[in-house]
Amino acid sequence: MTPAPAESAFLSACRREPVPHTPVWFMRQAGRALPEYRRLREGNQMLDACATPDLVTEITLQPVRRYGVDAAIFFSDIVVPLKAIGVDLDIVPGVGPVVAAPFRTTRDLDRLRALTPDDVPYITEAVCNLVAELGPIPLIGFAGAPFTLASYLVEGGPSKNHAATKALMYGEPELWAALLDRLATITLSFLRAQIDAGASAVQLFDSWVGAVPAADYRALVQPHSARVLAAVSDVPRIHFGVGTGELLHDMGQAGADVVGVDWRVPLSQAVSRIGPGKAVQGNLDPTLVFAPDDVLARKVRETLEQGKAAEGHIFNLGHGVLPETDPDALLRVVELVHAGL
Ligand code: CP3
Repeated sequence: MTPAPAESAFLSACRREPVPHTPVWFMRQAGRALPEYRRLREGNQMLDACATPDLVTEITLQPVRRYGVDAAIFFSDIVVPLKAIGVDLDIVPGVGPVVAAPFRTTRDLDRLRALTPDDVPYITEAVCNLVAELGPIPLIGFAGAPFTLASYLVEGGPSKNHAATKALMYGEPELWAALLDRLATITLSFLRAQIDAGASAVQLFDSWVGAVPAADYRALVQPHSARVLAAVSDVPRIHFGVGTGELLHDMGQAGADVVGVDWRVPLSQAVSRIGPGKAVQGNLDPTLVFAPDDVLARKVRETLEQGKAAEGHIFNLGHGVLPETDPDALLRVVELVHAGL
């Protein structure tokens, strides 16, 4: 009999159970680093591709075939649920999500109604197809966390300092809370649709929350992320952000089973900051794929060694695969991780 995803190394590590080898997958493993992805995306807009189940299925499977990773991550984007409820936005190549009318006042809350599975039938269909195709390999569903989604809505696009977002957070705390509450409701429904269709785990991306000091994170952000994570407690939950060295403990306390760590904090230090009862995910610097082979191999082994301090370790990069990455370098990383120390 084929083993079930539940018995996989990836889900075992999430549950802090013994593993036959350290599991590995890569954030943004599906994407521009793969020539087969670039071919398939020719002539398709990103958001159209995300709404086409056959394309989503094929793109999600590409890195699993090529790299032999221990998990697939669903191909979509954090702004897909916002688009699905009617927010006028686009993903501009080389830029990222751009929102036509940025969020400014209480009236803008009306544009953020709750999401139902009927808004995203293409998500349900693609997840069902993928679960059937993947067999024993777990599928990770994902969504953007309220803070990071708020940043795109308030700034109107990608931002370095998140100044307008933080101005709203500090200047109009009631409107901020109402905005994050709406976004939490949308996010948890988007995750729920993926879980109900068969996703084995979820990752909540709070990519840009590293811009917030810990005390303000606890007061103004964490309760909303916690509400999302509590609503999906039937599967392992990974919570990740960039530049979150000062937030690692609090992000774990938001209710994650696994805390994702970027490359700035040595994994062993991250483990002690996060504290007991959590697995960790990370954290090879994504630029190390451009280093000589022996340097890359040494850094992979260092990461594995440091990961031993954790109750469970899922190997990953400290952020997404860079588009210029040579896929062969990632293949080598998977081989090294699976070979162990
Ligand atoms: O393989 C995977 O990890 C799954 C796919 C995935 C995408 N977006 C596909 C994508 C995931 C998990 C995301 C989440 C996402 N989207 C995040 C959180 C993860 C992170 O990187 O911190 C964020 C912040 C976004 C917003 C976003 N969407 C950005 C910043 C960009 C890049 C813009 C660019 O062109 O450089 C996108 C577009 C996007 N999402 C692409 C992909 C593969 C590139 C579009 C393309 O290939 O045409």
